[in-house]
Amino acid sequence: MSLQGKKVLVGLTGGIACYKVPYLVRALHKVEAEIQVVMTVAATKFITPLTLESVSNRPVAVEMFPEREFVSTRHIELAEWPDLVVIAPATANFLGKTASGVSDDLLTTIVCATPRPVIIAPAMNPGMWNNPVTQRNVKTLQDLGYRMIGPDEGEMACDHTGVGRMVEPDAIFETVREFFEADAKKKVLTGRRVLITAGPCREPLDPVRYISNRSSGKMGYALAEAAVALGAETVLVSGPTNLAPPHGATFVPVETTEDMHRAVRDHLAGTDCLIMAAAPADFAPDVIAAEKIKKGDSARTLDLRPTVDILKSIAKDKPDGLVLVGFALETENGLENARHKLAEKHLDLIVLNNPRDPGAGFDVDTNKVTVLYPGRKPEPLALQSKSELAYELLERLAAMIH
Ligand SMILES: Cc1cc2nc3c(=O)[nH]c(=O)nc-3n(C[C@H](O)[C@H](O)[C@H](O)COP(=O)(O)O)c2cc1C
Repeated sequence: MSLQGKKVLVGLTGGIACYKVPYLVRALHKVEAEIQVVMTVAATKFITPLTLESVSNRPVAVEMFPEREFVSTRHIELAEWPDLVVIAPATANFLGKTASGVSDDLLTTIVCATPRPVIIAPAMNPGMWNNPVTQRNVKTLQDLGYRMIGPDEGEMACDHTGVGRMVEPDAIFETVREFFEADAKKKVLTGRRVLITAGPCREPLDPVRYISNRSSGKMGYALAEAAVALGAETVLVSGPTNLAPPHGATFVPVETTEDMHRAVRDHLAGTDCLIMAAAPADFAPDVIAAEKIKKGDSARTLDLRPTVDILKSIAKDKPDGLVLVGFALETENGLENARHKLAEKHLDLIVLNNPRDPGAGFDVDTNKVTVLYPGRKPEPLALQSKSELAYELLERLAAMIH
């Protein structure tokens, strides 16, 4: 996809990950985006403006009050110029300042003034990232509509390992590309209400233990993000995950399968499409011990009872016009099981995947699925990112909603 005519302001703050940003700028330049780089003074200690001028083909802006240069209200022009602002890397300092409205240099002033969407790629030592103040600032920014990408977990320049590494430039590039792709697409779900479930459910055994599954929630969250971007009023009912709730969606956190069932029922009124991408528990402990079960030498048997089948329960008295979508995660006889589920639960569409397929399943950013509609041949889709798949599915569903 060419980004010709798209304007991206790339802001760098003072972190070691600055050395990776020329790769991002170069990738954006290659797809013909117009790029304006703005650096904090601290960022210029890590990489020279000249390098970024060379890859962006445009002068880099650093100073709020440059000597012997007339800039007038350049900060406002720069705030209004782009279609999208990307801050990479974003320091703890930048997050803190932006979360509290501090505008004491050119970059923070632009970010304060811009009416455009801002994507932030934080990068810092794990201690700084895990600091409750940083976490509070991140949450404040997310609640205000700033979009965070990363950080990743891994080895850091400071020789520590943990969460804090900036996501790689190609992942930031992909996010930018997806942003423009979504923007370009017609908002096919405007005026529609989409209810999505995501993540695993937890069934308690005692006050400290539970049984659960390996669902990461990534597919459901990608669907919720895409639904918001396509204009839908979006409700995301989610079991416990490590993901940040997508901005713009109503977020309903739940824990057990029963909680999820209740939340889906509570939010069903007026819904045009229900997508069950969550992995509820199929079984729950028959008895929840009131106190922690003590360790012992003898073997123990756990009695399990089946949990409520949410889809089946909704399908039983399905409101008129509701488009019902299920996900089937199968490790054997996939097509047969998915066909059975499609018919048994009166679904309009089922998305089948096998966690053993390369690139599919838990905790990966891609998915390889087959979609099944009643009375039609199964349709295998190409391996693609969960975000791309989310858009593809929602566009199909938009056409099915009447
Ligand atoms: C070698 C070195 C590496 C640094 N790396 C980071 C970093 O990755 N993330 C961060 O938040 N701060 C980092 N800092 C600290 C920031 O540079 C410092 O907080 C600075 O004030 C940030 O200014 P700015 O947010 O205006 O760019 C680093 C400092 C040094 C000396």
